[in-house]
Amino acid sequence: MARISEESIAAVRETANMAEVVGQYTDLKQAGGQMMGLCPFHEERSPSFSVEPHDKLYHCFGCGEAGDIFKFVMEKEGLGFTEAVEALADRYGVELQRDEEDPRAEAARQRRQRLQQLLERAAAYYSNYLWESKEAGKAREYLAARGLSEETLKNFGVGFAPSAWDKILVAGQRAGFTVPEMHSVGLVQKSERGGEYDRFRARIMFPIRDPRGRTLGFGGRATREDQKPKYVNTSETDFFHKSEILYGLDRARAAMAKANRAVVVEGYTDVLALHQAGMEGAVGVMGTAITPEQVATLSGTVDEVVLAMDADEAGEEAMLRAQRVAAGRRMRLRVASMPSGVDPAELMAEDDGPERFRGFLQGAAELTDFQVTRVLNRTDVASPVERDRALAEVAPIIAAMEEGASQSELIRKVADRLELEPAMVMGRVIASTPATGGPGASAADPGRAPRRGAPPGRGGYAQGGPGEASQQQAQRPVELTSRERQERALLAMCIALPEPGAEFLEQLGESHLSRSGQAAADFIRAHPEAPAEHIPRENGALAALITELVMMAREQPASKESMELNFLLLDQRRLEEEIAAAGERGDYERRAQLSRERAALVERIAHAQRVAG
Ligand code: UTP
Ligand code: MN
Repeated sequence: MARISEESIAAVRETANMAEVVGQYTDLKQAGGQMMGLCPFHEERSPSFSVEPHDKLYHCFGCGEAGDIFKFVMEKEGLGFTEAVEALADRYGVELQRDEEDPRAEAARQRRQRLQQLLERAAAYYSNYLWESKEAGKAREYLAARGLSEETLKNFGVGFAPSAWDKILVAGQRAGFTVPEMHSVGLVQKSERGGEYDRFRARIMFPIRDPRGRTLGFGGRATREDQKPKYVNTSETDFFHKSEILYGLDRARAAMAKANRAVVVEGYTDVLALHQAGMEGAVGVMGTAITPEQVATLSGTVDEVVLAMDADEAGEEAMLRAQRVAAGRRMRLRVASMPSGVDPAELMAEDDGPERFRGFLQGAAELTDFQVTRVLNRTDVASPVERDRALAEVAPIIAAMEEGASQSELIRKVADRLELEPAMVMGRVIASTPATGGPGASAADPGRAPRRGAPPGRGGYAQGGPGEASQQQAQRPVELTSRERQERALLAMCIALPEPGAEFLEQLGESHLSRSGQAAADFIRAHPEAPAEHIPRENGALAALITELVMMAREQPASKESMELNFLLLDQRRLEEEIAAAGERGDYERRAQLSRERAALVERIAHAQRVAG
């Protein structure tokens, strides 16, 4: 992929609206030059998240998350840097220039772009056809009868595919696309006699989009009883991988982030009905069991996923893999038991449906608990053979959990119900634990870098009952030493007032600063002008610190006098350390000399304090 030019990156930063981007995830209020709100990265009740709309930076005093607008989009939308720049460029209409790239990559990118246009055109065609054509009248009536509003249907871009064999084929060619191009995105398919014809005919069309809202494929629902199968989906292509996509994620991401919970359902219509009923954190797995890739995607946004689908039917193996990935990411997976044979869409069509559904979400059981209980309930404990079979079945399920209270509790429950020694059950669980270092480690993982430097001391929420996650996720204030406070104050002022700043930066040596302070000082020396535009992309900790300093620089008053004072305080600290070291070495002469220096320094500090007020 060609690199986006630095100029373009700067143009995107310039054009994008920080308050708007962050505002999707948390409500912000003006507070001086900054904006404050509840942190979208950790659970809290009073706002410690601040946004600097001008430099487009954010920083949370509670959990320490900090960065620029690109980092924010990367974290919240699970994107890489380039993707985040592209997403913002899309949104704010900035055209991206790319640095020279090799012609093959350039050709591939252009082809990809053309196919994307083709898919968008097709989606628009189907949507138009649903609302405008006479032929789609029955489909419109059917959708309305199911209680889906025009607004909801348009929000999801629902359409209708004509019943003729060649409408898309012809319209696509007229719009300048080739038949092979249409074939490669799955809009047309080959007949036995070799000709191509429309894949979707007389079907209600659900565009399947990626997290950025780009159409990747379609699901088409039959409109007549005799039409088989019930749904035709786009077949797997180079860029359509159904198992990696969550239907509706582009519409659901912000709401699920705010609620810190995703609701996962099976069908397209379930997603639509839930969104319409105000449960906008719902996404669909399109008829399959939830996959490790899907779990990984969600874990970037939420700490809890509730499956509102037939978990009895879903493949055991698939569920186990999903569970391992969830455990490895400290995400809680729960199962909401729905009345059998009723899906969320049907429930939403009833008057008290939304309320009942919320109740099912509240009462959802831990996935592992659910699975184990299901096995136990099916087991005839009078039969030793049955009990052995049950033990063999539950051991890998329990082994997929994180070690902890919930796991031991489940082991006790199994031992109890199967009338076995807990130690024996434990032994089987250990024997089933994936070999490579703990749960999750061996699970399929699409190889994304851990995005949210999982703060220590989190997790363990599996111990809580339903709905207790927020209480268990206590706020984690970042504790600073007084030296760090002093050095941060000084470094921030060096940014605010670059001219005297340069002098102080010159005087600041390694012995004055903490390790992170040294790195920050080096950075500011290297980027005295506009440090906000050079936030490092490789070093997360440094990026966070620089962000914080730039934000402090904007908010806190700076003066040469207070810089002097902070510098002297850091210098005193350095002296104290040297004095102590000299004493430890037994170098009393040196210690006496340093002590005299200290006396002079203390005097200067007293003076500086008076001047700085
Ligand atoms: P369902 O059969 O439960 O359909 O399949 P549904 O979503 O409830 O549809 P309505 O409400 O009857 O209109 C659940 C999901 O499984 C996938 C689709 O994604 C569907 O939404 N599916 C189902 C297929 O891909 N192919 C099929 O033949 C059936
Ligand atoms: Mn349904």
